[in-house]
Amino acid sequence: MKKIIMLVLVATGFLFAQEFVGVKKCKSCHNKSKTGAQYKVWEGTAHAKAFETLKTDAALEAAKKAGVKGNPWEAPECLRCHTTGFGAGGYEVKDEAFWNPADDDRAGKKAAKRMAGLQSVGCEACHGPGSKYKKKKVMQAVYNGEMDGASVGLVTPTEKTCVGCHNEDSPSFKGFDFAERVKVIAHPYPDDMAK
Ligand code: HEC
Ligand code: HEC
Ligand code: HEC
Ligand code: HEC
Repeated sequence: MKKIIMLVLVATGFLFAQEFVGVKKCKSCHNKSKTGAQYKVWEGTAHAKAFETLKTDAALEAAKKAGVKGNPWEAPECLRCHTTGFGAGGYEVKDEAFWNPADDDRAGKKAAKRMAGLQSVGCEACHGPGSKYKKKKVMQAVYNGEMDGASVGLVTPTEKTCVGCHNEDSPSFKGFDFAERVKVIAHPYPDDMAK
């Protein structure tokens, strides 16, 4: 039993050591058309609106049907798929930093800003928490094949990533065809981009 607890502690320690930095951070480098403007593409997808969706009449109805108490935009049952990193050190409703701001953040402005960047299905929901790979040197090294992305927490998303959310636990689930759906969210580099 002790061994299992230790393993869990080590595993979560590893997880939380890599923090979710929010979509604005990725935007600062990934919004130029010369390199694919991934942020702009993402902004035009349903993923960028997933949090706002929880405030619609359709959401209220779905929540009622599912027996969810309280507002869907504050309910863990809904937030786990409509935000980034929920339950894994990402978006939190009652995040301690959010409700009990740190000494240098008495008004909670920094915490609120951090949460805003983790609403909806952001880059890190698919590519993993960014604190260890967000530096330009690291990103460039991964891109050039000089560093393994996985060693800094960067995930190359596959069908498995998607079905973590696109599954029968979703009240509106009607099946998921990876090959078709991945085209809808695609944000590749331009063909003529230099290596
Ligand atoms: C300081 C700038 C910077 C920031 C911040 C940044 N990136 Fe990057 N990223 C780059 C550069 C440079 C490349 C290499 C390709 C290019 O020139 O666009 C890259 C490449 C990538 C790649 C492809 C890696 C590969 O295998 O080719 C992914 C995926 C990626 N970034 C995701 C993200 C995500 C998600 C975030 C936010 C958590 C982020 N990046 C933040 C600069 C940045
Ligand atoms: C963190 C959860 C999560 C992950 C991971 C995720 N999605 Fe989604 N996806 C959603 C949610 C929530 C919506 C609905 C957003 C809305 O309408 O407000 C959605 C909507 C979509 C849509 C638009 C609606 C539709 O069904 O046609 C496409 C396309 C899509 N996702 C593709 C993907 C693909 C491909 C992947 C994997 C590469 C993926 N998603 C990974 C949560 C997720
Ligand atoms: C297991 C992940 C998951 C959970 C949990 C989840 N959703 Fe979603 N939600 C999705 C995905 C993925 C989509 C995109 C459509 C689809 O494929 O289901 C979506 C779409 C929606 C839509 C858009 C309507 C539509 O038909 O496209 C609404 C509204 C919605 N969700 C509300 C909720 C509410 C309210 C809850 C909580 C009771 C909730 N969702 C829980 C994943 C989830
Ligand atoms: C719904 C999941 C999902 C989200 C959200 C997402 N990506 Fe991706 N991303 C993918 C998939 C899938 C690929 C293709 C992986 C492969 O090469 O097979 C990809 C590839 C990339 C690449 C490499 C492009 C290439 O041509 O090889 C970059 C750079 C990137 N993403 C950056 C971002 C940034 C920045 C954001 C947020 C603005 C973001 N992604 C949001 C799923 C996602």
